Amino acid sequence: MALLELEHITAGYDKNIILRDFNLQVERGQFVSLLGSSGCGKTTTLRLIAGFSEPNEGRIVFDGKDITHVPLHKRNFGFVFQSYALFPHMTVFDNVAFGLKMRKVPKEEMKRRVAEMLALVDLTGFEDRYPREMSGGQRQRVALARAMVIRPDLMLFDEPLSNLDAKLRVKMRVEIRRIQQELGFTAIYVTHDQEECFAISDQVAIMNGGVIEQMDSPAHIFNSPKTEFIAHFVGFENFFDLNRRGNVLVTDSGLALRVARDLPGDRFRACIRPEDVILYPEGTEGENRLPGEVLVTTFLGRNIQYNVRTAIGEFVIKAEQEQGYSVGSRVSLELTANKIILIQPHE
Ligand SMILES: Nc1ncnc2c1ncn2[C@@H]1O[C@H](COP(=O)(O)OP(=O)(O)O)[C@@H](O)[C@H]1O
Ligand SMILES: [Mg+2]
Repeated sequence: MALLELEHITAGYDKNIILRDFNLQVERGQFVSLLGSSGCGKTTTLRLIAGFSEPNEGRIVFDGKDITHVPLHKRNFGFVFQSYALFPHMTVFDNVAFGLKMRKVPKEEMKRRVAEMLALVDLTGFEDRYPREMSGGQRQRVALARAMVIRPDLMLFDEPLSNLDAKLRVKMRVEIRRIQQELGFTAIYVTHDQEECFAISDQVAIMNGGVIEQMDSPAHIFNSPKTEFIAHFVGFENFFDLNRRGNVLVTDSGLALRVARDLPGDRFRACIRPEDVILYPEGTEGENRLPGEVLVTTFLGRNIQYNVRTAIGEFVIKAEQEQGYSVGSRVSLELTANKIILIQPHE
């Protein structure tokens, strides 16, 4: 049985419904991310789980118990929110000890647990500092320690790294994952950063318009996106239609394409990443070749991008080295058979 279940949740603000028939299951010990663009309802979902608000319809079940109407302070959950700031007038020790004081934990045990937590986030020796005397990354580690010291049954993170610079974000996300694996807690992590959440999650739920469009392991979503929206999210930029004719799949321009991973159905949306299309000079022979004309070339540092017009639409191609094709060049595009992904069949 899942540790946390959101069942048929409808929720929003006044008459503005954000989540409709929203469902989510989180297994014990898993690190699950909610990924989606700004405004898609991630924070709304996390606030419901935390107990800051209640749904209009549906149930939230935790460890077999209906907690839909259980108040926030009776749920033993930890939060690290972007805006959930430290208490500025309290030292690091008092900030971290706060939840233990509220729970009337004896003094000796409190000291021991705060020391343990500060060691875990690598802040031993900082007990007497005030938040203003620390860097952004250190403050966020204090916030982590403060949330985890109560040994929460569930940790909730809402874009906890978005105020940090890029380098620190990468370092901190590794830290969060390390600590989660060390302590074994269950975590729900909200972000709009695809790379960040793929790096640290066991499962990623990609949200679109108030529903989860796909929930899977990062590798599975990366390699087998189920919808065009998901495919866009994980780096596919070239989309085209394929129709089954007898034993082969054919583009709208009549070109037969071999695909390594076929699916049942007669009509598909298909996609391929810019890195997986190979350019050849016009007229060269080979499998899955499509003629085209170079429209734009762009230098991107690590690679060169070519925008190429073809009979089935414009393709974006990223090559590692300068290919020597200038604007107007006639080329031949190889759509590598084992890199073509078929997404949902359509009518
Ligand atoms: N307190 C609020 N009152 C009214 N509308 C809100 C409130 N908070 C968020 N919304 C709206 O709900 C939608 C989802 O917001 P939110 O869950 O915060 O998105 P996300 O965290 O994915 O960026 C947005 O359209 C937002 O404008
Ligand atoms: Mg948000």
